[in-house]
Amino acid sequence: MIKKNSIKNNLISFKSKGLKGVIEPAADKSISHRALLFSSLALGKSKISNLLNSEDVLNMVKALKVLGIKITKNKNIYTVIGSGLTGFKIPNKHIDCGNSGTLARILIGAIGGSEIFVTLTGDSSLRKRPMNRVIKPLKKMGINFNSSNGLLPLIVHGNSEIMPIKYNSPISSAQVKTSILLAGLNARGTSEIIEPHTSRDHSENLLKYFGANIKYKSKISGKNKVLITGGNNLKCCNIDVPGDISSAAFIIVAASIIPGSNINIKNVGINYFRKGILEALEMMGAKIKVKNKFINNFNEPIADISVKYSKLKGITLGSRYSSRLIDEYPILAMAAATASGKSIFKGLSELRHKESDRFNGIIDGLVSCGIKVEAKNDDIIIYGKLDQVNGGVTIDCKYDHRVAMSFLILGGVSKKPIKVVGCKSISTSYPKFNSEVNSLGMNIKNDI
Ligand code: S3P
Repeated sequence: MIKKNSIKNNLISFKSKGLKGVIEPAADKSISHRALLFSSLALGKSKISNLLNSEDVLNMVKALKVLGIKITKNKNIYTVIGSGLTGFKIPNKHIDCGNSGTLARILIGAIGGSEIFVTLTGDSSLRKRPMNRVIKPLKKMGINFNSSNGLLPLIVHGNSEIMPIKYNSPISSAQVKTSILLAGLNARGTSEIIEPHTSRDHSENLLKYFGANIKYKSKISGKNKVLITGGNNLKCCNIDVPGDISSAAFIIVAASIIPGSNINIKNVGINYFRKGILEALEMMGAKIKVKNKFINNFNEPIADISVKYSKLKGITLGSRYSSRLIDEYPILAMAAATASGKSIFKGLSELRHKESDRFNGIIDGLVSCGIKVEAKNDDIIIYGKLDQVNGGVTIDCKYDHRVAMSFLILGGVSKKPIKVVGCKSISTSYPKFNSEVNSLGMNIKNDI
């Protein structure tokens, strides 16, 4: 168990010397959530190693226990005794999803096929985030909800008579896709989900590994179609969770922008639909090498990544990139701020619906650091200033872990230190962030 709030709320990041060393980043959050949830829907005993020990994932463990699933931990291995597709018990209390949109949205789909009523809620950030994106398709499948304005708290009324649907999703969202797929496991027939571009396909890979009747191609461009046929029980599995590229991204950018850096990052998941950050940084001139690549037993590519400092230049990224680096825009924006020339990032409307309004959080934070930034509809334009970021400011990250970590990394190259308020949020995805980046050479300290 992590020590609750072991990260202090106010941190201050000072200019640092080059980063050096070898590190393994925090385990993948998306895969950790899915490993726990899919194991609980399978029949029998699944074992999960290297599960992410963060608040979001531990809230998934607690949620599944409230639904009657037995989960134990011995050393670094979690054992989950799955009770089948409709095996959740009537809970005797509500489920608190904390800060995690993934937990809330994918759990709702999984609960939908059991004849139970479940109340879900979350923290003040999650209670503002849209749940209609899953409520709408799930209602068409026969699952009912009580919610005001499509927000948490809400009550899910499960139904044992789930109907298959064909759903054309207006957005590319792995959470929406996963929620429908999990409900579809209990439908009588085949459900079809179409999204504008392929979002991360960890659910497809893992559901196939668990024996679901699923068909998908995960196309690199254009519309993506996934088919799932209900009625197949899932079989228990062993899962070793790879490192999270979204957490590694902070270290990759830090090493790219802090002069003298030369680091190695081990065991990072480099799923095509997650690794837009590597491509974007390479286009900016970053020195990144991907080594020792292999494909694991549930079809996820994994590799080691080495990064050396280099002078970056601005780039333009079209909206087709946005779902492939949706979680990495905050840290990519820091790289753009320290690069020479203009960067344009297009099609970022989804950033407004994350743990905070990241669209405006990035702009306000960078402007306060002395960087010129413009917003045009859903695009952000950053006028980079090589080695010229002022800093000397306090950023309120609005309890958003990725905004917090991004500005702390920027503090490593700014003229004056950057203080960030709201850093306890970092425990949701990367509880060892400070100590690990400091061990490489960052200079982040607690502040009062
Ligand atoms: C996630 C999907 C992404 C991402 C989130 C995790 C997931 O959201 O932003 O941090 O694990 O499914 P989308 O639903 O927008 O794809």
